[in-house]
Amino acid sequence: MTFPPENPFPSCILITGASSGLGREIAIHLSAHHRLLLNGRNLQRLEETRDRCRPAPGGHLIWPFDLLESEAAGGSLEAFLRQHGALVEAFVHSAALLQILPLRSLTVQMVQAGLNVSVASPVAILQALMKRKVNQRQLRNVVFISSIASQFGAKGFSAYAASKGAMDALMKSLAIELAPEVRVNSILPGGIQTPMTEGILGDPQMASKFERDYPLGIGEPQDISEMVEFLLSGRSRWITGQPFIVDGGRTSNITA
Ligand SMILES: NC(=O)c1ccc[n+]([C@@H]2O[C@H](COP(=O)([O-])OP(=O)(O)OC[C@H]3O[C@@H](n4cnc5c(N)ncnc54)[C@H](OP(=O)(O)O)[C@@H]3O)[C@@H](O)[C@H]2O)c1
Repeated sequence: MTFPPENPFPSCILITGASSGLGREIAIHLSAHHRLLLNGRNLQRLEETRDRCRPAPGGHLIWPFDLLESEAAGGSLEAFLRQHGALVEAFVHSAALLQILPLRSLTVQMVQAGLNVSVASPVAILQALMKRKVNQRQLRNVVFISSIASQFGAKGFSAYAASKGAMDALMKSLAIELAPEVRVNSILPGGIQTPMTEGILGDPQMASKFERDYPLGIGEPQDISEMVEFLLSGRSRWITGQPFIVDGGRTSNITA
């Protein structure tokens, strides 16, 4: 996937969560070879991400949209793509809501909000991207950023874990339904330094527990963007429907 120089509007990689953390790092990393469509809610931080990306022919695009509004996500994306004459070849879904709360404090609305961002919105986005009139059969690849919380338990993580578990299940069925044109995989990161984990890793006691529990230490955003790049490339052409744990050995460590 490289820019055809004669095409003034090369197709894009859509990245949600691009205003922060892993999504921002993935965007900066992929901008070396791809044109991007950046999604998040905070326009100023999306523009900061774009400023840190390598320039692309036609320029990187910004689609500010709140993915809690899952019913409107498909229509909004379709209108945006038409307005900009843009097409999407790959979709990386990094946006998520992390609410760490015990069962007694959870509300049904919070659970639904997590599912909207992690499951319902990507479904609506993919429905739009699979429409021939909207995206001219350009979509080839999907990567969901899930979490090791989808497969392993932790106190207070039930709503978040359920949203990631549903996302991984969605990934598997879509991989079968959309093959062979589109490959669909997910990445399950362990603990990585980002604004999402500032509160946890900012606590010295928690930080030293993480250092003890992670055989390879705490991860960096680049550890995930390298895996995304591999899954989007032809080097992984025979891989689909797989959840990849990238966690510095954390979930293999039974001494933790
Ligand atoms: N960091 C870790 O240790 C870790 C571990 C495992 C999995 N993950 C997963 O990695 C992904 C990225 O996490 P991160 O650490 O980069 O978190 P982050 O820095 O807090 O970024 C979260 C991103 O999600 C976007 N987002 C949240 N709610 C949204 C909504 N309603 N509509 C649109 N965008 C929304 C935010 O956009 P705005 O700020 O513009 O609203 C932001 O760009 C998430 O899926 C997370 O579950 C992270």
